[in-house]
Amino acid sequence: APSGPLSGRHVIVTSGPTHEPIDPVRYIANRSSGKQGHAIAKAAAEAGARVTLISGPVTLPHPAGVTVVPVESAREMLEAVEQALPADIGIFAAAVADWRVANAGAQKIKKVNGALPNLALAENPDILATISRRKDGRPPLMVGFAAETENVIAHAQQKLAKKGCDLILANDVSAATGVMGGDSNTVHLVTASHVETWPTLSKTDVAKRLVERLGEMIAGGRA
Ligand code: C5P
Repeated sequence: APSGPLSGRHVIVTSGPTHEPIDPVRYIANRSSGKQGHAIAKAAAEAGARVTLISGPVTLPHPAGVTVVPVESAREMLEAVEQALPADIGIFAAAVADWRVANAGAQKIKKVNGALPNLALAENPDILATISRRKDGRPPLMVGFAAETENVIAHAQQKLAKKGCDLILANDVSAATGVMGGDSNTVHLVTASHVETWPTLSKTDVAKRLVERLGEMIAGGRA
């Protein structure tokens, strides 16, 4: 691994959407591309970290020098994160599905003359909150994302407290911004003590700047 500000550190990154099965051939998903999470994994590796990238289904190449653990559902993602611990930093960029189908079919659900299947939903675990609130083995630096369409900073501050993480990158995903699936991102870095608004940057540059800040926090004894 190259030497850099994160040398000797283990960083776990989650990325992409999750797929929640309805039956063996159908699923619930979302429009996350995984671009931001994958860019962060790459930037962390370039900064010298050992990186475990736990990714839902995406069409992106595996970043060089990164261990990729492919998963499908939120529950598989949580299990993979727990398997990958301990870590110095957790950066949870995945767009985890809020709900899964509680009564997913073991066989393909058949279409039977006009009858509609009854799908019951169950809430998925919140991976960021679960890991941030662990008594044992919590990574000292936990980073989450907040996609908001209004009151971006206030909502990010509430989310920081609610999830128990140390830093939130909040972005405005109102339709006009084209962030979802796009190549650039306008974010605010929010901690308990300060807010930084970054200019619109490519997802690659957002990743580099985040990794730079995390290196500074670690060097400053924050983690
Ligand atoms: O609650 P919300 O989905 O807005 O929170 C976003 C942040 O929480 C992201 O960092 C996301 O990866 C994480 N998250 C998670 N598990 C969930 C839901 C969100 O890790 N079930």
